[in-house]
Amino acid sequence: MSQNILVCVAWPYANGSIHIGQVAGCYLPADIFARFHRLIGNKVLMVSGSDAHGTPVTITAENRNVTPNEVVEEYQAEFLADWEGLGISFDLFTSTHTDNHVAVTQDIFSTLHDSGYIYKDTMSQPFCEDHDRFLADRYVEGICPNCNFDGARGDQCDGCGNTLDPKDLINIKHRDCDKTPVFRDTEHFFLKLSAFNQDLIEWVNLQDHWKPNVKNFTTSFLESGLKDRAITRDISWGVPVPLDGYESKRIYVWFEAVIGYLSASKEWANSSNSSWEEFWFGESQSFYFMGKDNIPFHTVIWPAMLMGYGDHNLPYNVPANEYVNMEQKKISTSRNWVINLNDYLTRFDPDPLRYALSAIMPENSDSNFSWDEFVRRNNDELVATFGNLVNRVLSMTNRYFDGVVPAASQSDKNSRELIIEAKNTLDHVAKELSECKFRNALNASMSLAQSTNKYLNDEEPWKKMKTDPVEAGQVLNTCLNVINCLKICFHPFLPFSTVKINEMLGVKTSIPDNGWNWNEYELAEGHRIGSIAPLFTKLDDDVAAEESSRLGT
Ligand code: MF3
Ligand code: ZN
Repeated sequence: MSQNILVCVAWPYANGSIHIGQVAGCYLPADIFARFHRLIGNKVLMVSGSDAHGTPVTITAENRNVTPNEVVEEYQAEFLADWEGLGISFDLFTSTHTDNHVAVTQDIFSTLHDSGYIYKDTMSQPFCEDHDRFLADRYVEGICPNCNFDGARGDQCDGCGNTLDPKDLINIKHRDCDKTPVFRDTEHFFLKLSAFNQDLIEWVNLQDHWKPNVKNFTTSFLESGLKDRAITRDISWGVPVPLDGYESKRIYVWFEAVIGYLSASKEWANSSNSSWEEFWFGESQSFYFMGKDNIPFHTVIWPAMLMGYGDHNLPYNVPANEYVNMEQKKISTSRNWVINLNDYLTRFDPDPLRYALSAIMPENSDSNFSWDEFVRRNNDELVATFGNLVNRVLSMTNRYFDGVVPAASQSDKNSRELIIEAKNTLDHVAKELSECKFRNALNASMSLAQSTNKYLNDEEPWKKMKTDPVEAGQVLNTCLNVINCLKICFHPFLPFSTVKINEMLGVKTSIPDNGWNWNEYELAEGHRIGSIAPLFTKLDDDVAAEESSRLGT
């Protein structure tokens, strides 16, 4: 029976380009997962959008002397081009700066406020006397009390990843003027997280299908005791508080950004005349893809908000990833130790990056991207193994049989074995993908390509052609049909190249329409294949050196 699958992907701050660490961390796994579920016949809704508010965006705007909205619009356009270029198949990629999102956020705020889960209290906040204003989140910097990183911000330390409170910072300074702020009382709204502590512990305990690191992190977070959190700020960019008298405050960016999953679902439903409810209630399952720094917002805060709001489904799984390093060092935009997606796409094809990042996806520990390895994987694995297999088999079909599929053998042992391996691989890949084990799924697919190469090399149809053309034809028939299976296994990873393979095989049904089904006899005697085009491009050895030299400042 078809199932509804909601694929939620972390909302990137609209203040900088998407880099390959974020691609491997969440956009690519989410896309592979969504494509797979569409193929097996499930109904998928995949949403995200620009995280438009908060101090990350206002600080970028001030640095560039433009309005926050101009920054958001610039990056929104860039992100949309990124997704198109890399084939990230969102059903909707919107922004938190929409009327719909403001309305949904304010409704949740009001509902939680009415039921007492949001309450008002006074707190002490950094205030710059020279600028005569409160300094929210990233407007203050100092030394992290946990790791001594100099440059930790009022909300978070980039050195150790911990969330911080401005009061924790050592040598706190206003980032615009370096003056030491004073602390002044200000009124704010608080989310009563403490009220959900026990229910959250019980709920997380039941999530045996979560990754151990996600579950363990969340459990210890909950067991150390939840403190109520301020969810408003003294700033002017963001979602207004839906109560009179708070015009100078805005709702905290993290409180409203997670609401984006729900507001985006509603926006999608409105514009496509569909039901958002069928993705948020009942049997539907939701999967939240993100990097590890976002875990508590999705396994604790968002579930608490949902528990207080009503009976919407809580996250079914949160397959958060660890980090990708670049050439053994932490990715850093400010130090230019980074590859931005839009930059990559100006020089290379999308599928080799999808392939290389899937192979090193940081599912259980940090991993490393290097240009040498990228070039090696492209040349050895995509070009020499997979691409070459497809090319040889199709070329021989053209050369020896005028592009018409020769008859199959029903009895040849080696051929049967390969066909059975293909069947098993298709099932195995499906199982791994459904469990978000992307590396395993990719390895299994590549291993079938290797077996097919081996079969072809052992059978040597180019020699058999001279002695027994019928047998040579049978070998090609088997290879063609196994390639027809490989195109399905690889499709979630390599959507552009597999569509080309489908055309080259002369198959009329599109891969999405065909779904996760392989008919081992589909390319039967007499079927005419399409025209051959190269699948992957071999990269020169100096590409790695050239690309590496762009890193750093
Ligand atoms: N903008 C945040 C970041 O880049 C992620 C927000 S995810 C959301 O870390 F769910 F809150 F939107
Ligand atoms: Zn730190």
